[in-house]
Amino acid sequence: MIEREVLIPEEVIKEKVKELGKQITEDYKGKNVLLVGILKGSFIFLADLIREINLEDVEVDFLTLSSYKKGTGTESSRNPKIVADLSIDIQGRHVLIVEDIVDSGWSFSALLAILEARNPASLKTCALLDKSDKREIQVPIHYLGFSIEDRWLEGYGLDTLERYRGLKDITTRKS
Ligand code: IMP
Ligand code: MG
Repeated sequence: MIEREVLIPEEVIKEKVKELGKQITEDYKGKNVLLVGILKGSFIFLADLIREINLEDVEVDFLTLSSYKKGTGTESSRNPKIVADLSIDIQGRHVLIVEDIVDSGWSFSALLAILEARNPASLKTCALLDKSDKREIQVPIHYLGFSIEDRWLEGYGLDTLERYRGLKDITTRKS
């Protein structure tokens, strides 16, 4: 059995997601917002976040990005690729990217460049977690849940070679 330390418990995540949803609701009042979830890590966060956004006009789309070096599982490739693209045309749309963690920043940086080129009306970012000590390239995070030290995190949708996504808390392994 893996021994785990809970870094962010379920209830604390819930409260933070509520706060983020409230802020997004205020900021996008009267606008049609398109949430773009970065798969697969953001699927649980996005599912919780959208239920805290109290707007008439909220749409969702997904984009799959490969961020890791092949085989390593945990090391950023610095050259993320779109594996599966959006199904919605974002031209003229208010786009909010929803991501689980910003780490080196390469994923956000590549994604912002790609999506910006499609001429959205606005393009903002929301991340649940930020490991700012690991940043290699500066990227804007307009809505942030938690800044967190550099440990490998598991749970709440996060990927470790496709496992442990279903844990309710954000955890790390005891060493
Ligand atoms: P970046 O391109 O280095 O910013 O990579 C960000 C991506 O790496 C995130 O979307 C996550 O999918 C993944 N990631 C970074 N740190 C962790 C972690 O501690 N647990 C699980 N996934 C992580
Ligand atoms: Mg990710």
